[in-house]
Amino acid sequence: TGYVCIDPAFVNTASTTSSITFLDGEKGILRYRGIPIEQLGEKSTFVETSYLLIYGKLPSKSELSRFSTLLTRHSLIHEDMKRFFDGYPSTAHPMAILSAMVLSLSSYYPEAIDVKNTEHLDITIARLLSKVRTIAAFSYKKSIGQPFVYPHNSLSYCANFLNMMFSVPAEPYEIDEDIVKVLNLLLILHADHEQNCSTSTVRLVGSSKANLFASVAAGICALWGPLHGGANQEVVTMLEAIRSDGGDVSKFVKLAKDKTSNFRLMGFGHRVYKNYDPRAVLIKAAADKILAKLGIKDPLLDIAQRLEETALKDPYFVERKLYPNVDFYSGIIYRALGFPTNMFTVMFALGRLPGWIAHWKEMNDDPTGKIGRPRQIYTGENAVDYTPLDERE
Ligand code: CMC
Repeated sequence: TGYVCIDPAFVNTASTTSSITFLDGEKGILRYRGIPIEQLGEKSTFVETSYLLIYGKLPSKSELSRFSTLLTRHSLIHEDMKRFFDGYPSTAHPMAILSAMVLSLSSYYPEAIDVKNTEHLDITIARLLSKVRTIAAFSYKKSIGQPFVYPHNSLSYCANFLNMMFSVPAEPYEIDEDIVKVLNLLLILHADHEQNCSTSTVRLVGSSKANLFASVAAGICALWGPLHGGANQEVVTMLEAIRSDGGDVSKFVKLAKDKTSNFRLMGFGHRVYKNYDPRAVLIKAAADKILAKLGIKDPLLDIAQRLEETALKDPYFVERKLYPNVDFYSGIIYRALGFPTNMFTVMFALGRLPGWIAHWKEMNDDPTGKIGRPRQIYTGENAVDYTPLDERE
């Protein structure tokens, strides 16, 4: 029509219709395919919730069994991919490795590249969901100099991952069902969150008909940023900084209010939640429970609780409706389970995979879909003549 509206950061713009996730940020409601996350967190598994998000309904017994078998069957990465790990410095951030290796999966499974041919889509989806777990665990093993532990067909999705992360040849990892349950819960709570930055990235990249591996690799890059999934690592770094500074939380709340400080309370605030993030409620309760069960007294949990109390009493946070978000307590649980801080965002990526896949699939299934291509309002020079190099100042 000749004119363009501007909405920086897409604060008010819907980019699509979607039937995957419902979110009411004022009331603090989150539902996947209509089912509240509270129910899924209590009764479902990550594999079942992944099926729900990707295929639109809870699976029947036979559908779930087929889906689980596919995940089990496609858990190995190609042996040649193990050599990737040798090319990275030992200090490499696992998110950098994850994104590059997920993109590289498209070269091992080139049938995924033609997205119009959906014959292999279910296997591509299973490969992605299953192999990311193996890549993540191998990158951790590489970083600490331990041998890779291969996936085991007799183990469930989460137990298999924990085993690949923590077992060593000298001593098998003892599977604790409470730990498996809490890991399922964390992954379920991260599984989708409608048009967030990384999901919008997956959709935008996928709208050019880029394949699923390539689109998700882009999503992993978007997730890494500290304002998005990278916040869970930043939260623990911040809590550690508060502890080594003597533990005065009010000093850091004051600093977060000071606009010149460039410091924000990590794990606080959200674009759409103007109420307590419903995921944070469940994660906080799970943190209390699992730390008690494991007999861990993490001083960071105490600092986090005092920080929350102090911030939520402060008019700055009250007026702006800034509450703890999903990232505030998740790191405390990951620490208790033995995950190093730089793996926290990888865990977010693992959880968010079914959401990215579901959105990519929903978009690809829409025959009316077009390539994403935002407009801009140009603010540069008007027509200017080229100045030869020796005449320039
Ligand atoms: N600490 C201090 N002030 C904050 C914070 C914070 N964590 N978050 C927002 N504000 C202030 C901000 O300065 C602004 O104040 P004013 O109106 O005076 O300019 C106001 O609150 C609104 O903030 P905004 O930056 O305009 O809000 P946004 O919707 O663009 O940003 C956010 C949302 C999550 C990026 C932001 O709240 C933030 O940076 N939080 C810390 C990082 C974080 O925890 N990210 C994880 C988000 S949840 C998981 C995920 O989706 O990835």
